[in-house]
Amino acid sequence: MSAKQSPPSAEFRRAERAAKFILSKTKLRPKIALVLGSGLGAFADDFQRAVKIPYAKIPHFPRSTAIGHAGQLVLGTVDGVAVAGMQGRVHLYEGYSPQEVIFPVRVFARMGIRAVILTNAAGGVNTGYAQGALVAIKDHVNLQGVNPLLGPNDERFGPRFPDVTHAYDPEFRRFAAAEAQRLNITLDEGVYLALSGPNYETPAEIRAFRTLGADLVGMSTVPEVLAARHCGIRVLGISCVTNMAAGILDQPINHIEVLETGERVRGQFTSLLRALIPKIVETVK
Ligand code: HPA
Repeated sequence: MSAKQSPPSAEFRRAERAAKFILSKTKLRPKIALVLGSGLGAFADDFQRAVKIPYAKIPHFPRSTAIGHAGQLVLGTVDGVAVAGMQGRVHLYEGYSPQEVIFPVRVFARMGIRAVILTNAAGGVNTGYAQGALVAIKDHVNLQGVNPLLGPNDERFGPRFPDVTHAYDPEFRRFAAAEAQRLNITLDEGVYLALSGPNYETPAEIRAFRTLGADLVGMSTVPEVLAARHCGIRVLGISCVTNMAAGILDQPINHIEVLETGERVRGQFTSLLRALIPKIVETVK
């Protein structure tokens, strides 16, 4: 019996159930989802025709506990385009398993979503970045110590050995560069190195990560990217450099600063996302 004929895994059935529940709350059928990271969730407050679903109400959905994360899924429209927006994600450092962290992405796949914009707050490892800079992620280094695709593979989600050569969609990155230029927003490109957290890094770690090719460091995004690519969802990742990474400036890093910087660049972030949504949807429909 081939894998396709075997019964769906429990995880697949859970994702299917959650997707059905979400779609039963609205007539909208979004092709794009946004995951809004620390301090960036406000974008979904401006959706039209908005239906807000707390994570706690969605079958099998993990609940977000991080400060600065509202913990709800908002379905609505942006300039007439249907979108799903996650106000807050869950992280490994909260104690969630990698499978729980990627569950929302698998639900997106079952909802028919074809593209996802993942946003996050990150530390700037590249000393050429300024605090508050927006950076399109071009690739990543996974040092989280876990992989969300470990374990039996359900081919209904995707292949056993997914290719991640172009994990961060080159076409989406070209759109991002073009729209940023049009809007007069500086958008660099960089490599994101992911750790589990929850502590910020030591200066020695940051120096080591720079030699490994990292431009950004953070505690999220990579599991979701791997899950999205596994199930064929195209990805754009954008980081906000909320602080320079440890040891670059002679000052400690704190979460309040991270949230405040996210808040400060909210206008730019919002305009960029708004410009990108119709372009991306046009390409994946
Ligand atoms: N390190 C890790 N994660 C982060 C940082 C950082 O400096 N800033 C925001 N998220």
